[in-house]
Amino acid sequence: MASAPSHKEPESNCVPDNACSFKAADTVIQFTQNYKPKPDPNGLVFGTVFTDHMLIIEWSLVEGWQKPQIQPFGNLSIHPACSSLHYAVQLFEGMKAYRGPDNKLLLFRPMLNMKRMLKSAHRACLPSFDGAEFLECIKRLVEVDQDWVPQSDSASLYIRPTFVGTEPSLGVKKPSRALLFVILCPVGSYFSTGAKPVSLWADSKYIRAWRGGTGDCKMGGNYGASIYAQYEAVDYGCQQVLWLYGDDHQITEVGTMNLFLYWINEKGEEELATPPLDGIILPGITRQSILELAYKWGDFQVSERSLTMGDLCQALEENRVKEMFGSGTACVISPVGRILYQGENLNVPCEGNCPPLATRLIKELTDIQYGRTPSDWSFVV
Ligand code: COI
Repeated sequence: MASAPSHKEPESNCVPDNACSFKAADTVIQFTQNYKPKPDPNGLVFGTVFTDHMLIIEWSLVEGWQKPQIQPFGNLSIHPACSSLHYAVQLFEGMKAYRGPDNKLLLFRPMLNMKRMLKSAHRACLPSFDGAEFLECIKRLVEVDQDWVPQSDSASLYIRPTFVGTEPSLGVKKPSRALLFVILCPVGSYFSTGAKPVSLWADSKYIRAWRGGTGDCKMGGNYGASIYAQYEAVDYGCQQVLWLYGDDHQITEVGTMNLFLYWINEKGEEELATPPLDGIILPGITRQSILELAYKWGDFQVSERSLTMGDLCQALEENRVKEMFGSGTACVISPVGRILYQGENLNVPCEGNCPPLATRLIKELTDIQYGRTPSDWSFVV
């Protein structure tokens, strides 16, 4: 009998399966000659202002990984046939650097980003690398641009590691060339409306992810393909899409965020629930941290379980819903105030714009992120 093809998952400790990686110690730094003025941290529009430097690391099948280069921020030069442009052989991560009260710069659980990035790379047929070495390179880049980390506890430096196939041919195949790069932007609130509750359009017309697809990997295509539905949500007077799945309209994610429901469940128990990581949910680091914090508090049941629109509608009718919110690196936590479903507006309780559990979680998470609460989730740059 033929044996199953070897299609190994990457090692969870981030050591590449071929033990072949670039090394942070080899990083070559070329400083800019044109330092840009820093923006006012209060007027930042997400992802529009970039720092002075970027990190690039090239890979080819023939030569392997090249030395990491920190260089002045600027355009990339790529072959017009490159596979990331044609076939979306691409992935990214989202992390933040925060300025602590003692001016130390902090990252939040960054090895989880490295682990997820390697998982996405495996799925995209992009080469592996040592996550700890890559994190060290990112630390060096943040150090070089450290003055760009806002002096503010409502702003931070968004870190965008990106990995693209640069195969210079139109063949649909594993790339023989790739580029790993990191750019940085000072950011404030993700939504232009600030931390106000979001309204959602819940419709099964568009599907974000499906079993066997790539919804559990952070690939650009998942996000690009969601924009059309996002605009339809706006046409319906809503801000974001509530992504449904299956004939029973399972609730999966919201916009670009994971989703939480805090309610009294069918058994009459107080529960914080989020859909399980069953292949169609992005394994968010904020999601994981919320689950771990809430579990540690022990104040209510914490579950990863399937939730349907039927469950939600019934609970709303019976006044059993306490709060609903999205979570993500960019927005942290975003309360939900209204859902448009099958032509009906469902109002979700949202006391004072940011209800008590969302407020408590935001405080605990941001206290750790900004170094106000010591934690082993904080990683000093
Ligand atoms: C994040 O929260 O990091 C995200 O992935 C959102 C991003 C697509 C802007």
